[in-house]
Amino acid sequence: MKWLVVALVFVLSSTMAHAESGKRPPDNPKWKKECGSCHIAYPPKLLRAIDWQRLMEGLDNHFGTHLVLGAGDNKEIFDFLQLHAGFRAKNSASSLRISDTPWFTRAHRKIPSNTWSDPAVKNRANCEACHINAGSGDWSKRSIRVPKAGEKAPHADGVHADAGKRALPPDNTKWKEECGSCHLAYPPRFLIAADWQKLMGRLGKHFDANAELNPKDNKEILDFLIYHAAYRPKYSAPSLRISDTPWFTELHDEIPNNTWSDPAVKNRANCAACHINVEDGDWSEDSIHVPGGPDGEKKKAWWKKHR
Ligand code: HEC
Ligand code: HEC
Ligand code: HEC
Ligand code: HEC
Repeated sequence: MKWLVVALVFVLSSTMAHAESGKRPPDNPKWKKECGSCHIAYPPKLLRAIDWQRLMEGLDNHFGTHLVLGAGDNKEIFDFLQLHAGFRAKNSASSLRISDTPWFTRAHRKIPSNTWSDPAVKNRANCEACHINAGSGDWSKRSIRVPKAGEKAPHADGVHADAGKRALPPDNTKWKEECGSCHLAYPPRFLIAADWQKLMGRLGKHFDANAELNPKDNKEILDFLIYHAAYRPKYSAPSLRISDTPWFTELHDEIPNNTWSDPAVKNRANCAACHINVEDGDWSEDSIHVPGGPDGEKKKAWWKKHR
């Protein structure tokens, strides 16, 4: 049986390597040099493409300084920022300051206000005052030290800024009603914003169904979907099917082929056939029951064996 163990270890380590590589921050030497000389080179994903565009067009008055970049350098940096920009409304601020975005405010809400004016911090844009390795692209919790002797760092309790969001899945009455009438209202986090936008742009021809909405409802639902959308490429598929995304395929590759065509499942998009509590937003492993498969301790081994 040794070969089986080896094979499993290989599968595990290869999926882990994949997850790691997805985390490596995007890099570009020109951007790092030009945009990292006065302050750290702020990660592109922390502002939306439109904000970066405005910022790059206004370099002659860049927060009180005058920047001059060659046209070639400007374009290279511009393209890099656009490619890796954030998607969500919460990563945007009319001041073009990351530190004014709703995302920033929320992620830093536990920091006492007098910390921001502490001489060691100076201001919110001075990320490196607390994110001590941000200069080398490391924004992890491990590398946060909030200055101020003796004070308990706000992250010391281990509560993640997103914890509330994860516990309570995003909700919107209109979305639930309109997008949950023919099938499960698929959670926004399973597709990237661009895919939701395409899908909502052609509801008249929605996978052989007509799901047309009035413009007002369409906009409300689209805003909701985009706000909570995924941002990694593995949550995207040209077919606009969640069940065709690399994320889905990888996660479900242990399910036996004949299970997908089982009358109790019908097809891959029928998530609730196996995720038995998703109507309540519960996608946890404890609430998975594959039709025809066992439950309890045995089920994991069964998923793997029937691959
Ligand atoms: C000559 C110095 C200098 C260079 C070079 C420079 N910046 Fe800035 N940048 C500043 C100053 C000064 C501020 C305002 C900081 C403050 O208010 O404390 C700023 C602020 C910012 C902010 C807002 C930060 C926040 O959340 O408040 C962004 C975003 C930004 N710069 C991006 C860039 C990009 C992109 C480049 C490269 C094209 C760049 N900067 C190059 C001086 C510079
Ligand atoms: C006064 C210290 C301080 C400054 C300045 C600061 N941060 Fe933070 N940041 C924190 C703390 C503390 C947390 C963790 C909050 C929590 O756990 O609730 C955090 C969380 C984050 C996270 C999430 C990390 C994770 O793994 O969840 C990111 C990303 C981040 N900050 C980016 C920035 C950027 C970009 C700037 C500058 C524009 C900045 N921070 C300025 C203290 C700071
Ligand atoms: C009139 C019925 C109907 C309504 C209303 C409807 N859909 Fe669908 N949807 C379908 C059908 C039919 C499919 C294809 C299912 C299949 O192939 O098994 C589908 C498939 C999908 C898929 C792809 C699932 C996958 O992974 O294969 C997504 C995503 C989706 N719908 C999102 C939405 C959203 C968002 C809304 C609300 C704006 C919505 N749907 C409203 C009928 C509907
Ligand atoms: C035939 C049954 C089946 C169908 C249909 C199905 N899944 Fe799954 N799903 C599983 C199984 C089994 C796992 C656990 C795989 C593993 O851990 O190896 C899983 C895992 C997951 C997980 C991770 C759960 C966790 O906490 O580890 C998510 C999220 C998920 N599926 C989403 C979906 C979505 C979205 C759909 C519909 C578009 C769907 N699934 C359709 C069987 C199914």
